Amino acid sequence: MIYDVVVVGGGIAGLMAAIEAKNDTNKVALLTKGNLFKSNSSLASGGINAVLDPKNRVEIQKHIDDTLKSSYDLGDRKTITYMCERAPFIIKKLEAYGVEFDKDDKFNIIQRSFGGGSSKRTCFIGDKTGSYITQALIKKARTVGIKFIVNNFIMNLTKLKNRVSGVVSLRRFDSSVVVYPAKVVVLAGGGYAGIYRGYSTNSQDYTGDMHAIALRAGLNLKDMEFVQFHPTGMSQTSYLVSEAARAEGGYLINSDGDRFVDELEKRDIVSRAISKQISDGKDVFIDLRHISLEKIEKKLPSLQRAALMQAGVDISKELLKIKPVAHYSMGGIEADMVKTTLDGLLVCGECASNGVHGANRLGGNSLLEGAVFGELAGKEALKISKKSEFLPIDYSVVAKDLKLVDYIFDKECSKNFNAMRVSLGDIMFKFAGIHRDEMGLLKAFDYLKYLRKEASRLHCISKERNNNVELISILELRNALEVSEAIVLSAIKRKESRGAHSREDFPLSLKKYSKSIILKEFQKGYFKLWYSDCKFLEKIRNKLRRI
Ligand code: FUM
Repeated sequence: MIYDVVVVGGGIAGLMAAIEAKNDTNKVALLTKGNLFKSNSSLASGGINAVLDPKNRVEIQKHIDDTLKSSYDLGDRKTITYMCERAPFIIKKLEAYGVEFDKDDKFNIIQRSFGGGSSKRTCFIGDKTGSYITQALIKKARTVGIKFIVNNFIMNLTKLKNRVSGVVSLRRFDSSVVVYPAKVVVLAGGGYAGIYRGYSTNSQDYTGDMHAIALRAGLNLKDMEFVQFHPTGMSQTSYLVSEAARAEGGYLINSDGDRFVDELEKRDIVSRAISKQISDGKDVFIDLRHISLEKIEKKLPSLQRAALMQAGVDISKELLKIKPVAHYSMGGIEADMVKTTLDGLLVCGECASNGVHGANRLGGNSLLEGAVFGELAGKEALKISKKSEFLPIDYSVVAKDLKLVDYIFDKECSKNFNAMRVSLGDIMFKFAGIHRDEMGLLKAFDYLKYLRKEASRLHCISKERNNNVELISILELRNALEVSEAIVLSAIKRKESRGAHSREDFPLSLKKYSKSIILKEFQKGYFKLWYSDCKFLEKIRNKLRRI
């Protein structure tokens, strides 16, 4: 089967894109590497930001200003304005698709405060917002006729000159390499915070596959050093203790019983404050004991259950131990809104970097970003696909991917890929985590070079081709290592502290670095990095103005 539009990724951005790209006559496929119900979007619990009245200019301007402020000077005003202005309409659209936000007794949507917000603007469904939204979107996508192709791991893009022509995918159930030609490809496959294995709220397969694919297709990545640490992961399991818990009145206290930070400050500030307590030898807890059981059951039911199941803690009576955990990647594939420099390739959601978050994302803006730019990408995809033809597939890319799969199967190996990905998580957390300095980053870089070499010699121990879990894990690890180098090199280059990037050796923000870092892999393992003051965006916008 051939599809006009192929969307990669089953979170909120991918689902919105697929729905918008579909019309009565075209064919749209949505590819995911795993289970449709297991995206990061479905794990995003606390809510989605939006001013509900589109005519309320004052509140919309406050949403824009908060988002800009949180970006530490690296946000793109045009992109942020678009998102905040579109937000009220997105909430209406989600309601029309069956999302039932929590309401008061007058049937008005209730909104909670989230960190860094100057108003209550986070709409929610208890603490399962993302899960309910993705379920509604999956239903909607099925109704409009989207073809779901699950358990397909995208290996590479194919292109002709400067236009995308399809994707090469690895089918999990029989390990065959399959090509999906397309007039338009939308990458919406999420971020790279899962690389911080053991220290991340993400499911472990968020290994930066989209970014690695983009690098290999010659695209630029932007702002890769900015990885957001969510202040509150459950200490034992890194499970996301939603910001909803603090929004509903939870306190952060240390083992002396003292509160030490404004719980609703921006995430970078709260995370660093917690990390400081921990490095001073104190434990940190979230305290919800003063909140009524009724409220906990209504507003925080998932947390209540998870705390009991994972830590044996009854949050209505006991303290829950927490730690900051990698949660979201602000860096991504360089884009102007949803457009990339490769014709026919659109990006949206966490894998994209279009300036909507800059150096630090505002809590509650990720589901919004996914929905708004997913919608826009879908609309663009439909427009572009209507006036485009299918292009020939570059079979040299397919042949290379086939060869790689055979190579991973063919040889014997006793190396343990799992130990390697665990040590990758450890090293990234230790040296490219909340606190960074030149020495640590250089150590991380050396270790990554070593791991990259080792990973290139990994082979499946089991040679079974059906549902071989090792094969995709090895490919993910190769991607994660490529992306980790991009993170570390960008972090070395940014010799200042800004937002989520905190350098012990350069504690100040410097005006001369109020710029994004762009990175390109010009040859396997060789990267070029430079500072950009958004000339790329201006160039594309000027070009569009001339057309
Ligand atoms: O804490 C949370 O519920 C996460 C929300 C977000 O990352 O936007």
